[in-house]
Amino acid sequence: MALEALHACTDRTRELSTLSVGQRYRVRLACLLGAWHDILLLDEPSNHLDADGLAFLTDRLRGHGGGVALVSHDRALLRDVAREFLDLDPTQDGRPRAYAGGYEAWQDGRRRDRERWIQDYEEQQAEHRRLTVAVDQARDRLSTGWRPAKGTGKHQRQSRAPGVVQALNREREALEAHRITVPEPPLSLRWPALATRPGSALVRVRDVTVAGRLTGPVTLDVDGGDRLLITGENGSGKSTLLSVLADALIPTSGTVHHLAGARVAMVAQEVPSWPGEFTARQVYEQHVGRLTVRGAVPERDLVPLGATGLLDREAMRTPVARMSLGQQRRLDLALRLATRPHLIIFDEPTNHLSSMLVDELTTALLGTPAAVIVATHDRQLLADLAPWPRLHLTRG
Ligand SMILES: Nc1ncnc2c1ncn2[C@@H]1O[C@H](COP(=O)(O)OP(=O)(O)OP(=O)(O)O)[C@@H](O)[C@H]1O
Ligand SMILES: [Mg+2]
Repeated sequence: MALEALHACTDRTRELSTLSVGQRYRVRLACLLGAWHDILLLDEPSNHLDADGLAFLTDRLRGHGGGVALVSHDRALLRDVAREFLDLDPTQDGRPRAYAGGYEAWQDGRRRDRERWIQDYEEQQAEHRRLTVAVDQARDRLSTGWRPAKGTGKHQRQSRAPGVVQALNREREALEAHRITVPEPPLSLRWPALATRPGSALVRVRDVTVAGRLTGPVTLDVDGGDRLLITGENGSGKSTLLSVLADALIPTSGTVHHLAGARVAMVAQEVPSWPGEFTARQVYEQHVGRLTVRGAVPERDLVPLGATGLLDREAMRTPVARMSLGQQRRLDLALRLATRPHLIIFDEPTNHLSSMLVDELTTALLGTPAAVIVATHDRQLLADLAPWPRLHLTRG
């Protein structure tokens, strides 16, 4: 029943590995929603679902008589179904925050908390700097600054020096007593300056099809600075077409031409598998090492890992196997940005990224001079990118 309602693959003999990512998720979700449970615990249930699947899921959750605990980055889904929010993102005091009153109340409360955190952090750092300077000045006065006037009696010299020593001790104590209690607030995305190649056809696609995966035929040109939104139901061939555009898949028929020297990067639907014991920094170094060896990118053009604001120092030192999926996606995005691509392709960029980062990413995509192609089912992102030209794929 639920398999049909979700338009999931009903062929029980089909191997899961031959289904698209979204098709696999539908089968899994159908198994859960098909049984009537009192309490539903759902971890990112809307990832990879298309419009029909999302509508079915939203209806089921809204109509559910029992309790629902939902972990999701899907801003439209949260808006539609969530009444209370438990936010586990880092906070100033390290404790989780609960917000009542729906999506808007959560966003407002969160923004206020974040602003207070930044303000408290900056004030405390400024006070710490002020005290450090005061100690330095007192030390200077002791060693060089203060000299008794010539002819001053020996007795007087001795009696004034202890005052300076006392002042230094006072400043030192004040500095030692000043505790840094406010942790550094989380970073926000720093989108690098990307280059544009105006007017030049970065990628030229003619009558492309991929047997069993993309019916097409698709014909399109991607010029410098272009925008394109690719939509279509699960299994319609969006990821397949993006792989063709990124030069990662050879089409069965038709032609693809990439402009010589054009840098194309793709943030794929699922993160690649990196050696689990590698830290983010090692993954980055290996990645850019490979590219610079091939001469694909001049070394001076590389965007350093720490410059994107995607991973903090702690995360950069963490082995990949111990990173959350969200952190792995952030690393993947940092790797793609490292090469300052002329064309950047996003396949379902909102999956596993926090809503705040998705908001920042959306602003960056709207403003960047590079060409951008996005395939997404995310209703909020579709609304935000509504003015972009669209290519809608259908299963043929
Ligand atoms: N590696 C593969 N081998 C064979 N068939 C595949 C492979 N990957 C995908 N397919 C099939 O190709 C078709 C298109 O898959 P693709 O992943 O491009 O769809 P999609 O539009 O990106 O779907 P989704 O919205 O679920 O991400 C689907 O029918 C899928 O079952
Ligand atoms: Mg896909």
